[in-house]
Amino acid sequence: GGENLGEANTADRSKDEFLATLAHELRNPLAPIRNAVELLRRTAQQSSEIERVQEIIGRQVGHMTRMIDDLLDVSRITLGRIVLHKERIRLDVLLQQSVEAARPAIEAARHELTVSQLAEPVELLVDVTRMSQVIVNLLDNSAKYTAPGGRIWLSAWREGDEVVVSVRDTGEGIAPQLLPRVFDLFTQADSTLERRQGGLGIGLTLVERLVKLHGGSVEARSAGSGQGSEFLVSLPVASSAPADDPMHDPPRQAEASPGARHGRRILVADDNVDAAESLSLLLQASGHEIRTVYDGAAAVEEVQRFRPDVVFLDIGMPRMNGYDAARAIRALPGGRDVVLIAITGWGQAEDRRKAAEAGFDHHLTKPADPEVLHRLLEEVGTGRTAARPGTAG
Ligand SMILES: Nc1ncnc2c1ncn2[C@@H]1O[C@H](COP(=O)(O)OP(=O)(O)O)[C@@H](O)[C@H]1O
Ligand SMILES: [Mg+2]
Repeated sequence: GGENLGEANTADRSKDEFLATLAHELRNPLAPIRNAVELLRRTAQQSSEIERVQEIIGRQVGHMTRMIDDLLDVSRITLGRIVLHKERIRLDVLLQQSVEAARPAIEAARHELTVSQLAEPVELLVDVTRMSQVIVNLLDNSAKYTAPGGRIWLSAWREGDEVVVSVRDTGEGIAPQLLPRVFDLFTQADSTLERRQGGLGIGLTLVERLVKLHGGSVEARSAGSGQGSEFLVSLPVASSAPADDPMHDPPRQAEASPGARHGRRILVADDNVDAAESLSLLLQASGHEIRTVYDGAAAVEEVQRFRPDVVFLDIGMPRMNGYDAARAIRALPGGRDVVLIAITGWGQAEDRRKAAEAGFDHHLTKPADPEVLHRLLEEVGTGRTAARPGTAG
């Protein structure tokens, strides 16, 4: 009856809350590991052995980060905590972007990919990042569950007011008894010790939930084991109202400006000592002058002494959290000129909004990609960072 359903929902909800917390906590140790690997990479006098070891750690951290991101995503969607940022995009542009992201996996397995596009251009109204995540997940699966040297087709056609995107492969196929459950969380065909493929069985759950959030549907087809598979995603076509911005704006690339990367004064505040130290060492190795503190109150004090150009603040910190520290720094004389960067385990839209309200200029999710950090600091050096939300100007 209704009571049982209520209990099941409560149990589901605490499971989802647990998954969200688990994913968040698992991200924290990844940040210092990633920083440490990057630091090692930059150290001179490398032996080829050390170089290979670094590559292995770097690759595995990347792999783990992606799995944890999936786990975090799926629990957030379930808890209704994902906000879609929809924009108009041409289908062929979306498919092209997705192919680029999936290409390494496809090429590594020496598969032959055939892309067939619609003759006439069609526009969708979608969250571009999320929808390309959907298509990349399907292409990755085809690459993964097809023996090397197989074939993959990505094609699209129109059916009335909908567009159907199909990802088909000549791979291992899906047994009839598994087919109805492939979109369920943690479902995998082969959980034996011998199975070749990693993964958590989250990808297709994410695909289905994201497509549903977009008002579409997804279907899996396979004639059985060894017979290949096909995944069909149906999405509503955007109404033909004239679009201001039909193409997705590619992120602007900061031109490297000589001198910009040197001599910034940077304060790092994080109560995770390893995270704070490794980030500080990394920034120092890039030629910046660094101070490191381990709580929010110390950060506010150090801003007055050290007068940094840039401050990295963790959010969850003892004595004073990152939001309050940001507000306190903004209230200091000259505090409006400091570039404030939140660097946290939480990357939800809600957290970004809170960070902007507290006066942060930027919000990075741990583990921050060293490349992204580097580019951000170059932008800061040229004074071309985004307009500061929550403050005048
Ligand atoms: N293209 C495909 N061909 C064969 N099996 C697939 C394909 N895509 C998904 N599957 C099956 O569905 C399961 C769930 O996929 P997914 O949710 O992406 O998780 P994961 O890839 O992490 O195992 C896979 O473990 C696999 O058994
Ligand atoms: Mg997968």
